[in-house]
Amino acid sequence: MTIRSIIRSVGGSVPGKPVTNHDLVTRGIDTSDEWIRERTGIGARHIAPPEVLTSDLAIAAAQIALLRAGISADEIDLIILATTTPDLTFPATAVRVQAALGCLPGIPAFDIQAVCSGFVYALATADAYLKAGLAHRALVIGAETLTRLLNWEDRSTCVLFGDGAGAVVLEAWPEEAAGKRGIISAHLHADGTHIDRLKTDGGVSTNQKAGFLTMDGKEVYRHAVNKLAEVVEETLQNQNIKSDALDWLVPHQANARIIEHTAKKLGMPMEKVILTIEKHGNTSAASIPLALYEGVETGRIKSGHLCLLEAMGGGFTWGSVLVRM
Ligand code: ACO
Repeated sequence: MTIRSIIRSVGGSVPGKPVTNHDLVTRGIDTSDEWIRERTGIGARHIAPPEVLTSDLAIAAAQIALLRAGISADEIDLIILATTTPDLTFPATAVRVQAALGCLPGIPAFDIQAVCSGFVYALATADAYLKAGLAHRALVIGAETLTRLLNWEDRSTCVLFGDGAGAVVLEAWPEEAAGKRGIISAHLHADGTHIDRLKTDGGVSTNQKAGFLTMDGKEVYRHAVNKLAEVVEETLQNQNIKSDALDWLVPHQANARIIEHTAKKLGMPMEKVILTIEKHGNTSAASIPLALYEGVETGRIKSGHLCLLEAMGGGFTWGSVLVRM
């Protein structure tokens, strides 16, 4: 029997009230709303208070996804959580989510670390599990407290990121029942020769610290536009379709200019792009599921719509998932 992985539902969660660019200026950061908006399209972000952990955001997003799917936690048989900011170095944040949600003990639950591409990696991995018959119904989560990695003295990076989580329930359906719905293809890439362009300046094995995020912004920008253009083209060619077949581009929200560049390459009008960067900033692995959640909740993304998810992040890692909702 051929299996299709269907996105049954989407959930999302961000902590507290938005912190605007003006709020950052008030907090003493040497920046301006004008500079941040003009270069990145970011207007605000959410910053988790110290007592809110990545798992808390993941749990909140997953609960909404379960509610929207109308299923209970004990019907999940796989949890894959993408994060760069786990609660602890070990165990995986996914197991805390498993226990807190009341999922069955014994189901597999693990984290994936591919930075901003994490959700695309997690979704592709869950799709492979379902197609291999290793699971039937998965929670796939992207969750981050990325602001914990920020050096607030470094204005070139601290204004860019935010915290949040998004989740989907992914379910295995026989192809005859799925029709055209489900994950159609996934394309994952990495190139470790670029480690130093976007990284933390610490790590457990290196100096027993998490470190702060450091970035060569111009080089990351240059690679992002090229690699994203390549991967969207690869996806279209793989399915022998043109970009006008797409209903929505659901990109990783790193920078509005990078997103506009990808849309332009595709010849897609910005009306067909889900943009959340203005209110969330860059939430790394959480940004695609949060954008998907926004698209579904606002009634723009509907069942049957063809969506192209794409991301690029530290590593470099990059990839895409083509899915019919
Ligand atoms: N507020 C005001 N001025 C600032 C700020 C700030 N927050 N940050 C930097 N500046 C100043 C710099 O000091 C510099 O001043 P100078 O010319 O007097 O030296 C000036 O602005 C220009 O700085 P640049 O770093 O050259 O700015 P650039 O035009 O490259 O824009 C940016 C920076 C927005 C980070 C851009 O490089 C970018 O978007 N890169 C992509 C990075 C990205 O999206 N990363 C996200 C993670 S990876 C991913 O998710 C794909």
